[in-house]
Amino acid sequence: MDVFHAMKGRQSIRKFSREPVPREKILRMVEAATWAPSAGNAQNARFLVVEEAALLARMKGIVDDLLSRITGKTVPPDKINYHNLFAEAPVAVCVVGKPYESATDRHLREKDPERHRVRRYQVNAGLQSAASSITQFLLAAHSLGYGTCWMTGPLVAKPELESALSIRPPEELLAIIALGIPDSSPPPKPSRKPPEEITEFR
Ligand SMILES: Cc1cc2nc3c(=O)[nH]c(=O)nc-3n(C[C@H](O)[C@H](O)[C@H](O)COP(=O)(O)O)c2cc1C
Repeated sequence: MDVFHAMKGRQSIRKFSREPVPREKILRMVEAATWAPSAGNAQNARFLVVEEAALLARMKGIVDDLLSRITGKTVPPDKINYHNLFAEAPVAVCVVGKPYESATDRHLREKDPERHRVRRYQVNAGLQSAASSITQFLLAAHSLGYGTCWMTGPLVAKPELESALSIRPPEELLAIIALGIPDSSPPPKPSRKPPEEITEFR
């Protein structure tokens, strides 16, 4: 599939059929992700693929409990929303990343801690690298006929999910990709800004 065709055809899918996703297809998507650029070619993201219905339900419970706690409103067990829809997909791909630190960053840590902090938490090359691999995963999934939804909503319960998934520092959970065959025709794709509006030449 032509890259522009894939980019324009992909859209977030929030309803899936129950059909399982073969592991070899998932590995093809991960292969696409490995070809993404990463700072220092650190390839600092990995993919924890949750297929077990019981674990998906447990993750949903964790997210719903947290949301109920912070909003003061109970999330009914059958309610699917922006934060928990991954649990309705046959597969939830958890993106796990490690912070990236270059040799320059290590110098900065000692010589200029404030600049180090900005690079670590605002520039965040590790997070940018993981995001590029997620994008390629999504495009590969689309070209193979699968739908995805890139999700950070569930990460309101980041520490609790990390504990349930045994993700330990320095690794952390960065996103969840809901993955499966799209259930029905999705709503129209959200529009995009014209390139001229967001481009400035100097
Ligand atoms: C970093 C990131 C986090 C997102 N988190 C969620 C989420 O938690 N739940 C959700 O339903 N969609 C989530 N989305 C999907 C966006 O809502 C979606 O990409 C956007 O509205 C554009 O629509 P499109 O993907 O169909 O082109 C997220 C997207 C990104 C890039």
